Amino acid sequence: MERLTPANLPFSLKDLPEGWFSANQVNVLYQLASTTPGPILEIGPWVGRSTSVIARALRERKEKIAFHTVDYGIESEDEWLTLFGSSVRTKKDPDRYLRHINQPRGTIASLERNLSAQGLRDFVEIHRGDFHQVSPPGLFSLVFCDATHSVAEIDANLPALLAKVAPGGIIACDDINPALEAHILSRFRFRWHHVDSLLFYAEPA
Ligand SMILES: C[S@@+](CC[C@H](N)C(=O)[O-])C[C@H]1O[C@@H](n2cnc3c(N)ncnc32)[C@H](O)[C@@H]1O
Repeated sequence: MERLTPANLPFSLKDLPEGWFSANQVNVLYQLASTTPGPILEIGPWVGRSTSVIARALRERKEKIAFHTVDYGIESEDEWLTLFGSSVRTKKDPDRYLRHINQPRGTIASLERNLSAQGLRDFVEIHRGDFHQVSPPGLFSLVFCDATHSVAEIDANLPALLAKVAPGGIIACDDINPALEAHILSRFRFRWHHVDSLLFYAEPA
């Protein structure tokens, strides 16, 4: 696949929920979801910014494409501490996190609310838990992961993610800086790969 170039999207960034996905990343993920021939798996929706991009692409398509998203769905500050080893209150702007965690059903409640507000809820099946345990079975034509922010996370997660990519399918990972890109390329083989604004996308070899 050639490197994707910017396209005109039928929505604006302002239509999306809060999150960590930039304009260029939205552009690439939207195009990948618009053209994938089979089912999609997302790891790490948080409250649904990237999820909304994929679901918006699927809403425009004539054929139904299955879309599963998996998140820890954090429901308390203690759960955050257990998962990540430090208090969420040490984050910059902790309220950005706390308002989603400290509510009944935690971040999944915000994810569902944000998808419903855009009329996208029916396009996504949500799974709560560690993706290693709760991902649906089968292979996916597009696997997008937003849980590969360090060498440790890449080593822990990428082998399992690659095992879920169907032959000819695409893996995409967010927050891949040049050092992490070099690490990925030293450990795994791809037919081609691109990185646009920290969004890595590739076809596994
Ligand atoms: C940076 S946030 C995702 C941001 C989101 N994609 C957006 O567009 O704003 C990372 C998310 O990955 C989730 N996560 C990290 N590791 C996970 C795992 N092993 N299984 C399930 N979810 C995981 C976290 O709970 C968090 O919601």
